[in-house]
Amino acid sequence: MNIDDRKYAPIGVFDSGVGGLTVAREIMRQLPKEDIVYFGDTARVPYGSKSKDNIIRYSRQIVRFLQTKDVKAIVIACNTASALALDIVRNETDIPVLGVVVPGAKSALQATRTKKIGVIGTEATIRSEMYTKVMKEMEPDVEVTGKACPLFVPLVEEGFAKHHVTEEIIEYYLKSMKESDIDTLILGCTHYPLLRSGIRAYMGEEVNIVNPAYETAMNLKQLLEEKQIAKDVSEGAHAEYDFYVSDAAEKFRQFAGTIWPCEIDTTKQISIEEY
Ligand code: DGL
Repeated sequence: MNIDDRKYAPIGVFDSGVGGLTVAREIMRQLPKEDIVYFGDTARVPYGSKSKDNIIRYSRQIVRFLQTKDVKAIVIACNTASALALDIVRNETDIPVLGVVVPGAKSALQATRTKKIGVIGTEATIRSEMYTKVMKEMEPDVEVTGKACPLFVPLVEEGFAKHHVTEEIIEYYLKSMKESDIDTLILGCTHYPLLRSGIRAYMGEEVNIVNPAYETAMNLKQLLEEKQIAKDVSEGAHAEYDFYVSDAAEKFRQFAGTIWPCEIDTTKQISIEEY
C-alpha cells in the first residue's frame, strides 16, 4: 500500500470481547474521521484467566485477521493481551501495533504526586506485573500495588454495574487499596471504566482514577501524524465502523449498544481459529 492509500485504511482495534469498545469509543472521539475495524473475541473471552501461550496465540490470529482488512495500525485494547502479547506480535508485523499498558502507565505517572500507584486488572494482567515493570522503567522510585478483580468483568457483562452487589464487591476488592496511601489508581482492564462511578465513590475524590483509553487514543493520533497516515478528509465526512466477533454476534451487538455512542447495525461472526 502506498502512503496515500494507507491514509484511507482503517484502524484495527481488538479485545477479548465487548469491553474494548471503551477504548474504541475514545479513538472515535479523538479521531472522528478514522474508520475502525473492531474485533471482539467473544468465543474465547475471558483472556484474564488464560495462559500466556494461549493469549499470544489468540493475539497472533487476530492480527492476521485484521491484516486481511488492510488496517494501517492496530490497537490492542485488551489490557491482558497488551501485557502478555504486545511485544511478540509487534515484532511479527510491519503494521504499527499499540497497546494500552504503556499509555496507562504514562498517564498514572503524570497524575501521581506521591509516586504511590495502584493498578487493578485481570488475574493475568496483575500476575504479569507489566504495569509495574513499565512504570519502574520510567520512574524507578514509583511504588505500585496490584490487585486482581476477576468478578468485575462478569458483573459488567451481566448489567450489574450500578447494582448494590457490585458496590459490595468493589469494597471487597478495593478495601486494601483504600487503606493504603496510593494517590492514583489505574483501571487496568477494558471493563473497569464502566464501573468508574462506583470505584470513584468508594475510593473518594482525592484518588486520581486513570483510564488508559484516553492516552492510548492520543498516542495513536500522534503515531498517525508522525507516519503521515492520518485520514485526510474534509470536515463532516463520515467514518465507517465495522464490528467482527468470534461468537454470539447478536449478544455482542446488544451489549455494545450500552457502550458505543451510535447504533450498531450489524456485527459479523468469523472463525478466528482459521487465521
Ligand atoms: N479485556 C480484558 C482486559 O482488558 C478483560 C476481559 C477478559 O478477561 O478477557 O484485560
